[in-house]
Amino acid sequence: MGDKQYVKNILCIGAGYVGGPTMTVIANFCPDYKVTVVDISRDRIDRWNSDDLPIYEPGLKERVLKARGQNLFFSTDIDRGIDEADIIFVSVNTPTKTFGEGAGRAVDLQYIEKTARRIKASSKSDKIIVEKSTVPVRAAETLSKILHSGNNSVHFEILSNPEFMAEGTGIHDMENPDRVLIGSMDTPSGRAARDELIKIYERWVPREKMVTSDLWSSELSKLVSNAFLAQRISSINSISALCEVTGADVDEVARAVGKDSRIGPKFLRAGLGFGGSCFRKDILNLIYLCEHYGLQPAADFWQQVIAINDFQMQRFVHRMVAAMFNTVADKKITLFGFAFKPDTGDTRDSPAIHISKMLLKERARLWVTDPHALNNARQDLEDVEGEIVYEPDPYKAAEGAHAIALMTEWDQYRALDYRRIFDRMEKPAFLFDGRNHLDHQALFDLGFNVYAVGKPDRTRFNNDSQ
Ligand code: NAD
Ligand code: UGA
Repeated sequence: MGDKQYVKNILCIGAGYVGGPTMTVIANFCPDYKVTVVDISRDRIDRWNSDDLPIYEPGLKERVLKARGQNLFFSTDIDRGIDEADIIFVSVNTPTKTFGEGAGRAVDLQYIEKTARRIKASSKSDKIIVEKSTVPVRAAETLSKILHSGNNSVHFEILSNPEFMAEGTGIHDMENPDRVLIGSMDTPSGRAARDELIKIYERWVPREKMVTSDLWSSELSKLVSNAFLAQRISSINSISALCEVTGADVDEVARAVGKDSRIGPKFLRAGLGFGGSCFRKDILNLIYLCEHYGLQPAADFWQQVIAINDFQMQRFVHRMVAAMFNTVADKKITLFGFAFKPDTGDTRDSPAIHISKMLLKERARLWVTDPHALNNARQDLEDVEGEIVYEPDPYKAAEGAHAIALMTEWDQYRALDYRRIFDRMEKPAFLFDGRNHLDHQALFDLGFNVYAVGKPDRTRFNNDSQ
């Protein structure tokens, strides 16, 4: 059981984008619980213990500083953490498999399995194991088999408690969740474990927001939530393509359609497509599950969500090249933003990566600017051939550019002095707004040729010359 001064010991295995912030929030709301976060990466743990946290998330740092050293600890001593824990959250990465059977679709479960084996090896007392990572349906069964195999008298009760936070608003989402989902076995020990977890969340989450279910439904609900969100983005993006050729405005269409309370206004922002570490991987996982069970039409349906996302990025680059007189070779193109969304430094599967690669293939010279994601951008593009410069100052990055392409809708990009930028660019000056974030009329009035997603071009080529 827990140390004397703590009600319980919580351990989280995996100190990433989910593990670090979720445990920080729990530690803040439950000062009487000891919360330890462990990871195999010493570098990550060292940074969690420093002033330079390994991830950027608004509101995170002050909450870490409030609890760290009091009831929140970051460590690489995984075995000790397991031994001392009453409740273990598993928050390791579950990427798409890149090899063997199911490559490119199925989840690579090696990190989950290694974690389970380590928990088993280091446990001397009964424990509640909480699946926080996003996993395929029935992963809890696999976990249970590994944990209970061999001569081990210890009992592990497995719960599914998927995380629904979005990056950039992670702390807010965790502190004010739409729901907390807990899946458990319908057995006395399953229900008791579920109640232990509810006891933690009820410190700050109203009871009516806690949704309990069986394990498999909980696991599947997480995949389905992400698939539905991504599907809305692909739906509106498919319409943006139609808007560009018909003269309709996708934002007007989204506004009108979203007023229907059955449809709702959220997640209808057309843009470059969805990025981030999860949407693509979780839909691929869903596709793999459908195929595995012989449900090919269902798999094809979800495959289209990804196909439209890829189409959207290809269309964007095609439109850039076509607008710039069918060549961008040797032209300087400045990317405003590289993160997959604002308020995060995360660039995993960011549309900016795909668009950079396509532009570099066209032999453009790329200048990349972003307030928080330049280090990640450098790593993402390190093996890509071509000229790439990383410049934190957007004014310098845009100097002498033929075009600016906005990849991430950081607030600060709206507040820039675009006259100053325009004056120092090559003419004709092009601006491609991949997130429909800027004031297109004002930019056009300054002299830019403006191209936005799902909107008619605003160019001067048919009228005045530059
Ligand atoms: P991440 O890569 O940022 O973090 C995972 C961490 O686990 C890494 O630091 C890694 O070193 C560590 N790890 C891997 N194997 C380990 C082991 N055997 N022992 C100890 N540590 C180990 O990943 P993330 O973004 O935090 O995602 C984690 C899970 O949460 C994934 O399943 C993801 O789908 C899910 N999820 C992520 C988000 C998000 O916004 N990033 C949101 C909801 C759910
Ligand atoms: C998403 C979900 O929103 C979370 O609920 C989930 O927990 C998480 O995935 C996960 O499982 O990892 P996240 O990827 O962090 O969160 O961020 P989102 O706000 O969902 O944005 C994802 C991508 O979609 C971004 O690239 C964003 O620019 C794009 N997007 C979003 C659009 O293009 N249009 C929209 O209307 C909304």
